[in-house]
Amino acid sequence: MRILLLTHAFNSLTQRLEAELQERGHEISIEFDIADSVAEEAVALFKPQLIVAPYLRRAIPESIWSRHVCLIVHPGIIGDRGPSALDWAIQDGEAEWGVTVLQAEAEMDAGPIWASAVFPLRGAKKSSIYRNEFTQAATSAVLQAVERFAAGDFLPTPLAECSDARGRLRPLMRQADRTIDWQRDDTTTILRRINAADGFPGVADSLFGEPCQIFDAWPEAVLRGAPEARSGDLLARREGALLRRTRDGALWIGHAKRAGDLKLPATLAFAAVSASLPDAPLNDWWRVKGETWQDIAYEESGGAGFLHFEFYNGAMATAQCERLREALAWAKQRPIRVLVLMGGTDFWSNGIHLNVIEAAESPADESWNNINAMNDLSRELIETGEQITVAALAGNAGAGGCFLARATDLVWAREGVILNPHYKNMGNLYGSEYWTYLLPRRMGEIGVGDKSLEIMRNRQPLTAQRAAATEFTDACLAGDAQAFRIDVARRAAEIAAAPDLAARLVAKRERRAQDEAAKPLAAYRDEELAHMRRNFYGFDPSYHVARHHFVRKSPASWTPRHLARHRDLGWQG
Ligand code: COA
Repeated sequence: MRILLLTHAFNSLTQRLEAELQERGHEISIEFDIADSVAEEAVALFKPQLIVAPYLRRAIPESIWSRHVCLIVHPGIIGDRGPSALDWAIQDGEAEWGVTVLQAEAEMDAGPIWASAVFPLRGAKKSSIYRNEFTQAATSAVLQAVERFAAGDFLPTPLAECSDARGRLRPLMRQADRTIDWQRDDTTTILRRINAADGFPGVADSLFGEPCQIFDAWPEAVLRGAPEARSGDLLARREGALLRRTRDGALWIGHAKRAGDLKLPATLAFAAVSASLPDAPLNDWWRVKGETWQDIAYEESGGAGFLHFEFYNGAMATAQCERLREALAWAKQRPIRVLVLMGGTDFWSNGIHLNVIEAAESPADESWNNINAMNDLSRELIETGEQITVAALAGNAGAGGCFLARATDLVWAREGVILNPHYKNMGNLYGSEYWTYLLPRRMGEIGVGDKSLEIMRNRQPLTAQRAAATEFTDACLAGDAQAFRIDVARRAAEIAAAPDLAARLVAKRERRAQDEAAKPLAAYRDEELAHMRRNFYGFDPSYHVARHHFVRKSPASWTPRHLARHRDLGWQG
């Protein structure tokens, strides 16, 4: 079928749906919902049999829904209506939530229902629920709805006839609904409120007496700070986060956004004043027992080491890259035979930290520092001779994060993960992380018609299955998060115990030595950085402009041509 995806942005759900529908043989084109006239033009050009709207912020115009079946993906259970569906569900502590695929009609979210799915609602950030449980449920519901539509004889159920409609119409959640009362609310309530507002719009609050939005909260069970401290007092800092007293405990605030500013690590958003707080570092890299904020955590089992790095949004600033490299170098000295880089729950890595770069006095210098720190980390991985290294992607990876993963010996991705192994979307950035060494080594020389070039040029997201099929990764593992962790641990233990491990490590070291003799890593790095220097300091400002729009979330004014296939010159509808 010819399916138009009408969406506010090419977000992770839209990427997943595009890939899944294409894999089922459908012809897909994408249009951003910029204006009614633009959407109408897209429909006229593409002549879709079906329109799917995975992520919309406004209603589809009647001129379209009255003539075409438009399926809306609503992040709520059957009967739920309104623009803050997930926010209310999380804030109200629902035990189960869902997704409904319904047909667009005059009344928002009230059209007949084509498919639905439910999932247990984890106590987690809204953005995490969206990228994991919701995206998984939405994908299966949309695929079911598309099949039903294709069958031609399915009649969607009007909402009034749904016997299992538990939801109701709820208003937009306003900041007044999110307010935290630090004197009266307990830690669980505050956590829920901050979770319900993550990553947008955050909870309007104040830090150091200054109004700001707060994000990214973590419970603290170990450190409670000074007993004389009052609820709401700031107690300590650790890396990017601030510890704040609550009525019955304490919690960490990882990110904050001051008025007119960017969302930044909290200690950077309030750099001068937070320096006066006592530092509460962790002693070492071992995972702490009990709840605390620990962005880098190491554990061991079955002859394998597992390094977790829970960096918000997968963005890796210079200092985070440096700390992760230190942790990696330390882990390499442990008596382990396999070293698994686990990344975080929602993202494995999205490369250099564009917000921190944007906020720097010299974004060009900070870009340079950040890419060099990423490269040092990548080299530390490439030069690991005593262990088999694995990147286990439980969450998505993008740009430099994908090539950092490829710097390991084996890349395993959880089914449902999306990879964007290309840099060009960020203002034609050339990219580094030794990709010019890693990609051809894996997929063949970079030349016309080669897989390596295709990956970089097409700028298309890859599902975990597709990434394994094209050999960018080595395996696609279980889709369930818990099953994935178990599978990763089992496979790592198997490699560690395999009789051929010693021979495998010898072969690995020999290959590295041969590669180094043929062309040193330093030469790859110099060549890549020569391009990056032009991106950062050259007269073409594309990267700086693209980064500015990305971090400021400027609304798109047109759909990128590589997504809007119906706008290709010579496209025949
Ligand atoms: N630096 C800082 N923030 C980043 C980031 C980065 N490298 N990559 C993603 N983010 C942030 C987004 O701004 C967004 O922030 P929010 O929580 O305030 O909304 C959040 O992470 C999620 O990103 P989003 O784009 O909504 O997620 P997605 O899953 O739909 O898309 C990507 C994933 C990777 C395609 C997209 O985020 C992207 O293109 N990132 C930039 C990658 C890049 O160019 N890195 C630099 C070169 S190495």
